[in-house]
Amino acid sequence: MEKNPQNAPDAALTDFGFRQVPTAEKQALVRDVFDTVAARYDLMNDLMSGGLHRVWKRRLVEILFLRRSPAHVGLHMVDIAGGTGDIAFRAARAARRLGTPLTVQVIDANTEMLRVGAKRLRDAPDTLPVGFITGNGEHLPLADNSVDIYTIAFGIRNVTHRADALREAWRVLKPGGRFVCLEFSHMPSALLTRAYDAYSFRVIPPLGGLVTGDGDPYQYLVESIRKFPRAEAFADEVGDAGFARVAIERLSGGVAALHSGWKV
Ligand SMILES: C[S@@+](CC[C@H](N)C(=O)[O-])C[C@H]1O[C@@H](n2cnc3c(N)ncnc32)[C@H](O)[C@@H]1O
Repeated sequence: MEKNPQNAPDAALTDFGFRQVPTAEKQALVRDVFDTVAARYDLMNDLMSGGLHRVWKRRLVEILFLRRSPAHVGLHMVDIAGGTGDIAFRAARAARRLGTPLTVQVIDANTEMLRVGAKRLRDAPDTLPVGFITGNGEHLPLADNSVDIYTIAFGIRNVTHRADALREAWRVLKPGGRFVCLEFSHMPSALLTRAYDAYSFRVIPPLGGLVTGDGDPYQYLVESIRKFPRAEAFADEVGDAGFARVAIERLSGGVAALHSGWKV
């Protein structure tokens, strides 16, 4: 099985895009990235992906298996690295359509991203049972076996110790709980990869510079995507954390992937 040095807890250096940085410094560097982009984060997602991130997020919510709840037993979901709340809002609305009581807690390390999310919640046309708190996905401020659904979208790539975050996911989920992770991935086709690389490296950082005033966070984005493990290797990591029936669903030819599993 492919192991990533990122998961060695005492490694002195770790990846920050293509750079190696002291492990203890990565989280602050990631925080700076999201401080810089928070105000324009949602707009940039649409511009960069041509709106595709919306399709991927819709699919994530579809595979949560939100169920109609005959006993009116509510479900509790946490969206880790939930940023500006996209996944939480979508899940809350999907559950409402099904008639399932669902509460969603967004936990993110970056207060700027959460501030934008909280404003979106206030400005929403409907009242949503969503809350925002600051927290680190590697040490969740949640009790063991307390959560029905754990999601993380475009967040796991940014954490310093991925294995710790996955272990935390397993710890906080109840037996029978659902784990779903959406992340950028790698396309199996070499030809498409070349085209995608050209687009990513030539278009995205300059576009980020134009829209947010700083292209560096988007240079980090494209580099960090290349450093993230391939879908099969990441599925092994999810399995190593204890999840059962780990599944991979490639999206848009492998540009992104959903990894899911169950705590049994
Ligand atoms: C690319 S954004 C994703 C936001 C949102 N999930 C979405 O899909 O639009 C990544 C988020 O991960 C958060 N993040 C990075 N490292 C984290 C950590 N260790 N714990 C919690 N959140 C983290 C960042 O602050 C940022 O808001």
